Amino acid sequence: MSTPLEAVLEKALHERQRRSIPVTDLLDDVLPSPAADLFSNDYLSLCTDPRLRQTFLDNVSQEPLVFGTGGSRLMSGNAPAHLEFEHRMKTFFRAPAALLFNSGYDANVAFWHSIPQPGDAVIFDELVHASTRDGLLASRARMALYPFLHNSISSLRDTILHVMRAHHGISAGRATVFIAVESLYSMDGDFAPLPEIVRLVDELLPVGCGHIVVDEAHSTGIYDSQGRGLVTALGLEKRIDTVLHTFGKARALTGAVLLCSPVVRKYIINYGRPFIFSTSLSHSTICALNTCFDYVENPTGAELITSLHNLSRTFERKLTAALRSTPAHILALPSRLTPLDFPSDIVSPIFPILTSAPISLAKFLRDLGYAARPVPYPVVPRGQERIRVVIHARNTEEELEELIARLLEWSSAMQEAERGEKERDAPAAEVAGKRKSESAKDRIPFTISLPGTTLRIDLSVLNLR
Ligand SMILES: Cc1ncc(COP(=O)(O)O)c(C=O)c1O
Repeated sequence: MSTPLEAVLEKALHERQRRSIPVTDLLDDVLPSPAADLFSNDYLSLCTDPRLRQTFLDNVSQEPLVFGTGGSRLMSGNAPAHLEFEHRMKTFFRAPAALLFNSGYDANVAFWHSIPQPGDAVIFDELVHASTRDGLLASRARMALYPFLHNSISSLRDTILHVMRAHHGISAGRATVFIAVESLYSMDGDFAPLPEIVRLVDELLPVGCGHIVVDEAHSTGIYDSQGRGLVTALGLEKRIDTVLHTFGKARALTGAVLLCSPVVRKYIINYGRPFIFSTSLSHSTICALNTCFDYVENPTGAELITSLHNLSRTFERKLTAALRSTPAHILALPSRLTPLDFPSDIVSPIFPILTSAPISLAKFLRDLGYAARPVPYPVVPRGQERIRVVIHARNTEEELEELIARLLEWSSAMQEAERGEKERDAPAAEVAGKRKSESAKDRIPFTISLPGTTLRIDLSVLNLR
């Protein structure tokens, strides 16, 4: 028999499932025989790179210390290895200061909960990651949080002007407006218009009162010839105030580094709770990070980045051609605009593939061994249901073609089913039925109202990304 607590938890999980929001206990959620990796965030294919693995094993076997540090950086866990790696990051990224974290999640929560001060305001793209939102909810500026429409410069302009009218300290040059964006968004695979954002902040805000924060979780490692990320590739290092690079995606590891001013670094060390109250990265992780950065700083890194970009272009071209005669409600690749002032060689490796039956498509692909995940309604608005395909440096053209062939195979089966049902004049077409069974009545935005502002959060998105 359930305890009262368990009954409440079970009811909540059941309700979530009823609304078609994915629920899992992960126990039967592993892939039996993985097909090509076209779905993970391992952009440079380093997670399975045999040469990197061997180099790491050689390096780590030479290390006097490989296990944990036994404490937080503020207790016994501040080893020379951490300071040396931070120095390496500061030099590599040509940043004023660098601070290591156990994860990108910790870094975002630590920055956003500690740095904005009373009187400051935070303007954020409506699609920023859950870690930024979690930090903001604990921030001292939580009365002054303002979302703007995803990647919309005009919405950002209106929001800045509104914030300046609402907060006199800012227009008088006594307080700060933070702007939080991601360089490459993982759900849509689109880029923030960083050069335009910088220009807008310069144009509208008093000098020194705008503080732009860019989360490079999905772009670190894959832009600039050595993988310094999009901010560097766009030549904006001196114009962006704080940049987050995480190591869980293109770097095949865990952890993150925040590039910031020395005073921001010092403040987080003393006030950032995820930094203060968590055991520091183990010696073996620091060794692995050094091995990984050595590996991609030599020509191998540039080759992997070039391969990733070439394959991404190939996939886009081939998939676009393949989908030409496919009905858009079954499969569609949305077109994306490259922001102003982006070099033409900057290409996204993330492809949202829109479909009205994402659960059916993901199941079809998972049965073939692909790690596909559905992104159904109500997780995203109706009409934007999708699966996400991610290209990797060591994919082959054959793997891309194989996936496209499988997508077309599924699409033909769906079209066939639709035709059959129309002919039988069934009360509802199977596709529509599927669509219905994959949907729920309402999307469930979670709204937090605070005096002075309203922060609207789509909880399902928080859980998904
Ligand atoms: C944009 C973004 N920021 C931060 C994070 C958190 O990084 P980590 O996985 O290192 O905790 C993620 C992870 O998915 C992310 O996508």
